[in-house]
Amino acid sequence: MIFFPQMIFTHFYILICFRDSTVMAALTENMLTVNMLLSVFFLPGALAEDCYGITPAFNITTPNTMEALTGSCLQIPCTYDTENTKYNSSRRIYAVWMKGDTQIHLHPKVVIFNSSGTVNTYQLEIIGNLKEKICTTLFPNLTTRHADKYFFRIENYQFRATACANPLQIKVKDSPWSPSIYVPSDLKEHQSVTVTCSAFTPCPNSPPELTWNLQQDSLRHTEKNRDGTFTTKIQEIITLSDTHDGYNISCSARYSVIGGIKTAETEVTLSVSYAPKDTSASISPSGLVSAGSWVELSCSSRAKPPPTFTWFRISEHGDINVSVGQIYSFNVTEGGEYYCVASNDLGQQKSPVILVAVEDDQASEFQILNVLKILGIVLLCTGVIIFECWFRFYNKPKKEPEEPTYVNNVMVTTVS
Ligand SMILES: *[C@@H]1O[C@H](CO)[C@@H](O)[C@H](O)[C@H]1NC(C)=O
Ligand SMILES: *[C@@H]1O[C@H](CO)[C@@H](O)[C@H](O)[C@H]1NC(C)=O
Ligand SMILES: *[C@@H]1O[C@H](CO)[C@@H](O)[C@H](O)[C@H]1NC(C)=O
Ligand SMILES: *[C@@H]1O[C@H](CO)[C@@H](O)[C@H](O)[C@H]1NC(C)=O
Ligand SMILES: *[C@@H]1O[C@H](CO)[C@@H](O)[C@H](O)[C@H]1NC(C)=O
Ligand SMILES: *[C@@H]1O[C@H](CO)[C@@H](O)[C@H](O)[C@H]1NC(C)=O
Ligand SMILES: *[C@@H]1O[C@H](CO)[C@@H](O)[C@H](O)[C@H]1NC(C)=O
Repeated sequence: MIFFPQMIFTHFYILICFRDSTVMAALTENMLTVNMLLSVFFLPGALAEDCYGITPAFNITTPNTMEALTGSCLQIPCTYDTENTKYNSSRRIYAVWMKGDTQIHLHPKVVIFNSSGTVNTYQLEIIGNLKEKICTTLFPNLTTRHADKYFFRIENYQFRATACANPLQIKVKDSPWSPSIYVPSDLKEHQSVTVTCSAFTPCPNSPPELTWNLQQDSLRHTEKNRDGTFTTKIQEIITLSDTHDGYNISCSARYSVIGGIKTAETEVTLSVSYAPKDTSASISPSGLVSAGSWVELSCSSRAKPPPTFTWFRISEHGDINVSVGQIYSFNVTEGGEYYCVASNDLGQQKSPVILVAVEDDQASEFQILNVLKILGIVLLCTGVIIFECWFRFYNKPKKEPEEPTYVNNVMVTTVS
């Protein structure tokens, strides 16, 4: 079928110019003239291509490009609006879909569907109400050979027009789209955030099944986008903690298509900021140190972003800020108690106190004390042993008295 035959000549001429490069080189100047003429008389770009240069009498609203999945259906959102006086919605309206030839535009567009029922090559179905100017169409069971450029046409009594300026390019993929995981940026611990996994839904009658490694009972819902296409989502609110940092959320979309199930998966890694945790201080060398030697105090903590460290020495007059940095090394003069504080934008944490103990006169005092203690214990033990011996000796049952006992000058012999 040929529409606008009067325009074909012009188009053909331009095509010849483009196809033969040698001619093109020679005719650059002429072509420029032709182009200029064209831009004066005809609309540029796609309009000039598919409408053969004339202003379209009829426009539809539909995506320029739609992607479909083999074996799945494709719901094509479509609306139109016409102020044309010839259009009378009380009269019968025929919706027509034509397939364009993407190779050469000179080729006529082929009718693949006529809502009158005369033609339906691909079992299309108009699911919109044409009386309300809704031309939404369901394309079932796509295969790669359906990938093409499609044009919509309306035939209503005296009004017959093709939306040549709004072709729909259908692309057919064999593997499904990876779902998208949406997490707000700049995550911090204690925040409650909504995590969403969404998947493109070409066929809202059969939306993809979404599963993820968060809570399994997340409710699935399919919603309409601004352009009339659909998206299926699952959402969950999570309260972040430091354990979520580095956590991988993976979401998979399962599309049920004719002849099986197609699955695609996406993964995102969470990055969560948190205040310092597990802050601790260590000393090297450990144990007693002698005055005049170096000790190294080291602070460690888990924090995001990485923390800064400050060292404090405990004193009677309040704690003194003695050093900044993870490591604090110094020449020991006297013993003391130290702790470090790790801090970042989100907070700070104090380590347990560590003791720097010095061995010198204090140490000898220690030794004397220890010697005294040992001596004390030895004495105590000796005392106990002596007492025990004495006690046993005097309380020993006198089976064979060594000396007779005299009572009132009478010798009494104890008989056992
Ligand atoms: C259709 O859209 C084109 C621009 O894309 C415009 O020039 C033309 O007037 C429109 N036609 C109608 C009938 O609204
Ligand atoms: C539309 O068509 C109906 C019936 O076919 C007719 O009665 C009516 O006058 C028409 N309206 C216009 C605006 O032409
Ligand atoms: C669509 O069908 C109607 C009714 O059979 C017919 O009048 C019309 O010409 C057809 N349109 C196209 C573009 O084939
Ligand atoms: C879907 O399309 C394929 C290829 O054209 C065909 O073999 C199959 O029978 C179709 N299935 C349905 C349910 O239409
Ligand atoms: C998250 O995924 C990345 C890259 O896929 C991997 O290197 C990392 O080990 C994973 N993390 C966890 C906690 O599984
Ligand atoms: C530590 O300080 C003392 C006294 O100021 C000094 O004699 C000693 O050499 C220092 N030790 C080291 C290892 O620097
Ligand atoms: C500790 O002292 C350093 C320099 O003397 C200073 O920059 C830092 O802000 C102090 N830190 C605290 C926590 O007082």
